[in-house]
Amino acid sequence: MSLVHEIDYGTPLSKSEKMVTLTIDGQEITVPEGTSIMRAAMEMGTQIPKLCATDMMDAWGSCRMCLVEIEGRNGTPASCTTPVAPGIKVKTQTSRLAEIRKGVMELYISDHPLDCLTCAANGDCELQDMAGAVGLREVRYGYEGDNHLGLDKDTSNPYFTFDTSKCIVCSRCVRACEEVQGTFALTISGRGFESRVSPGMDEAFFDSECVSCGACVQACPTATLTENKVIEIGQPEHSVVTTCAYCGVGCAFKAEMRGEEVVRMVPYKDGKANRGHSCVKGRFAWGYATHKERILKPMIRSKITDPWKEVSWEEAIAYTASEFKRIQAKHGKASIGGITSSRCTNEETYLVQKLIRGGFGNNNVDTCARVCHSPTGYGLGQTFGTSAGTQDFDSVEDSDVIVVIGANPTDGHPVFGSRMKKRLREGARLIVIDPRKTDIVRTPHVEADYHLPLLPGTNVAIVTALAHVIVTEGLVAEDYVRERCDWDEFQNWAAFVADPRHSPEAVEKYTGVPAELVRGAARLYATGGNGAIYYGLGVTEHSQGSTTVMAIANLAMATGNIGRRGVGVNPLRGQNNVQGSCDMGSFPHELPGYRHIAGDEVRHMFEEFWGVHLEKEPGLRIPNMLDAAVEGSFLGLYVQGEDIVQSDPDTKHVTAGLAAMECVVVQDLFLNETANYAHVFLPGSSFLEKDGTFTNAERRIQRVRKVMAPKAGYADWEITLLIAEAMDFPMPYEHPSQIMDEIARLTPSFAGVSYEKLEQDGSVQWPCNDKAPEGTPIMHIDHFVRGKGRFMVTEYIPTDERTGARFPLLLTTGRILSQYNVGAQTRRTENSMWHEEDVLEIHPHDAEQRGIREHDWVRLESRSGSTSLRATITDRVAPGVVYTTFHHPSTQANVITTDFSDWATNCPEYKVTAVQVMPSNGPSQWQEEYEAMAKNSRRIAAE
Ligand code: SF4
Ligand code: SF4
Ligand code: SF4
Ligand code: FES
Repeated sequence: MSLVHEIDYGTPLSKSEKMVTLTIDGQEITVPEGTSIMRAAMEMGTQIPKLCATDMMDAWGSCRMCLVEIEGRNGTPASCTTPVAPGIKVKTQTSRLAEIRKGVMELYISDHPLDCLTCAANGDCELQDMAGAVGLREVRYGYEGDNHLGLDKDTSNPYFTFDTSKCIVCSRCVRACEEVQGTFALTISGRGFESRVSPGMDEAFFDSECVSCGACVQACPTATLTENKVIEIGQPEHSVVTTCAYCGVGCAFKAEMRGEEVVRMVPYKDGKANRGHSCVKGRFAWGYATHKERILKPMIRSKITDPWKEVSWEEAIAYTASEFKRIQAKHGKASIGGITSSRCTNEETYLVQKLIRGGFGNNNVDTCARVCHSPTGYGLGQTFGTSAGTQDFDSVEDSDVIVVIGANPTDGHPVFGSRMKKRLREGARLIVIDPRKTDIVRTPHVEADYHLPLLPGTNVAIVTALAHVIVTEGLVAEDYVRERCDWDEFQNWAAFVADPRHSPEAVEKYTGVPAELVRGAARLYATGGNGAIYYGLGVTEHSQGSTTVMAIANLAMATGNIGRRGVGVNPLRGQNNVQGSCDMGSFPHELPGYRHIAGDEVRHMFEEFWGVHLEKEPGLRIPNMLDAAVEGSFLGLYVQGEDIVQSDPDTKHVTAGLAAMECVVVQDLFLNETANYAHVFLPGSSFLEKDGTFTNAERRIQRVRKVMAPKAGYADWEITLLIAEAMDFPMPYEHPSQIMDEIARLTPSFAGVSYEKLEQDGSVQWPCNDKAPEGTPIMHIDHFVRGKGRFMVTEYIPTDERTGARFPLLLTTGRILSQYNVGAQTRRTENSMWHEEDVLEIHPHDAEQRGIREHDWVRLESRSGSTSLRATITDRVAPGVVYTTFHHPSTQANVITTDFSDWATNCPEYKVTAVQVMPSNGPSQWQEEYEAMAKNSRRIAAE
């Protein structure tokens, strides 16, 4: 194994279709028009010395290292900023060029510490490489004059160090922050000799606008910006390409290693989802994988009030199987079930549902997608015929109007958020529909044309009002609709939305959005060119989540915005493999590939292949499992990689259900909150410890590769095999590739997927089969998967959760950049420096009415429960709306959320809870007790 080195072509790829032929050093080459001479030379294998150029950004032309001679032209132009031209003859190596380059390099080195042997970047420094490349052997100027060698280091960022004394002011970091990340946190201050890179107005990195994405560190050609782990451990010696285990963007990374120790995670330029970019989580927050709180020994206990007892794997598995068998013998086959994990691989998820259907003999399997994107599955399935986003991420480059509904891409899906911002800086228009003024509404050089700050719970009314404007103002793409959609259903829908009760003026009184904003946004989306809709949990986690998804699909069909690049309907998926866990048959009514369990043909095929009888009736969803537990008919649960106590709504109901069960088996990295109710704890494995695949939000299947042995002895898929064997349902796989082969054999949309294909192509987007052997970046191109697109009537039915005198405010919840979901991983990293606790955002007007000041403790109360947290006063939320995250177990925001859920899928209504907020003295008693209990569990485990 060795380090994976990606070629840096110096300047970005030109997308021109027109080709140009030129001669470089006597060799003819043909490249797309707009290519730089530097890149053209690199493509034929000639590396021109460079310092300020890199192919992740536009050329800058400041270092003067890359000069060339062009026959018939005066001077020595910079090859990075000079485009190719037909017939030109370029020389990259002459004695004159060598002399100039050596002189430039000598000047750089004369103001640079000569500590190469002890420098952290030794062996990985472009300045060092270029000094060698130009043949610099001595420096004539001493250090006597003014220089920058004594400048201070900025160590404020927990993940990287900024050593200004090594800076050559090439500006790559500044441009990376602007062009790649879109944060504009860095500037070059001062002029000439005084030029310096500085975060903000000479602030420390940690205090600046910097979001720690790492793009500047990656771009820096010297040791000025260096990962702390490289400084601490040294240079890596081999790398393994794998996929981030945090969000649904699915960034590809090179895990750069020393032996079994991760030195750094470097975003992989060939990763088709991230194109070489990253966010703070994937880039830096992987330390949880080796955190000391990881549980590495299986444990059992007969009562949840007993202390844990460490046991061997054999004993833990035997105990699990005997308990499950005992429960089934006494209470029937349907008395147990399981929950798959959207953080685990496709192969692991497939195995868990197979174990439950085949080994447990029932369909009581569900997944955390139940609580996030199940309405996407339903809504897009009904309208388009398939339960997934329509586009690849690259498609946004061709969008003219971007609509973001109930999503916060710069925090929740940061790498895609950066690409979206780039397209917006290039001129695409933006409509944001969100109760909060999220970052994307106004960031450097990006400002939404329309922000519709609707009241939580009124999505259907707003999207239907947009449709009203489109239909009544004659903005429907009639030719498209006639050709691609069911015309009768369209007419029925058009009559429905045209009703005056759906007009922006009529809905204004309960959505809170001025009618002219809705009209303007509708006109822009319908007439502004390619319109692409991106949405998130702010759409799905409502009692009408499925209705809003269908309303969005209606809008896209009515305007002809489906079936080509630049358009589409795109759910931004929360967890890394939430798409995959749904694809793999994690819902109680569906076999892999979204095929209903009641369908005889498909079920018989699985029965035959698995050699077992399968029940025809759908099993229980998570909330129904918990209800049945409280009623006494559901007593055993296998939970792989989920923390339902913290992530599911109405915590009291969840804990009551779990406490009523006789055998709860939790398989996880840490003793999570659900483990407080478990009888068996099986130590799970991190994404670094296993092989498999994840599927991201663009349906892209990517490899996860093992970089270290499982710390507790087994990868998660192997643990499921052990349970299956003990439950007398052996599944003899030796490698996850065999599991994928089985998935491909049984699932038409995966028929062409194999590890060989992924090895060869890097990734592939399903459907991938005989009809689409290279996968499907854009769906519904010639026709919808279901044939004709289907318009659905979307009546707005207000949620039963209403504000009133007792609970006058609406709580909505979300995610923050540095943290991830319930925080099990990120809380165990330095990311906590940015977000030590959950805080409540409250509008100045509401805060003043209640006598609440910045950072005060407040009590947040709903009809379900109450919790306490600190307040921050901000106009990011509208009056009447409060907002918090649920990353910290001591806050337990889900104590507050109610048991209302989506009518079609049971997805909980996290985004709308009527609450009251009042000053408080500190954490509630139960929070203190809870924290003490959690600490105690961790202490017992540590002992
Ligand atoms: S880490 Fe990212 S956000 Fe921070 S300065 Fe560097 S490029 Fe900008
Ligand atoms: S910090 Fe690095 S990338 Fe930025 S200007 Fe200095 S040398 Fe160039
Ligand atoms: S954007 Fe998502 S997938 Fe990419 S590095 Fe960040 S958390 Fe990981
Ligand atoms: S690499 Fe071309 S001027 Fe710096």
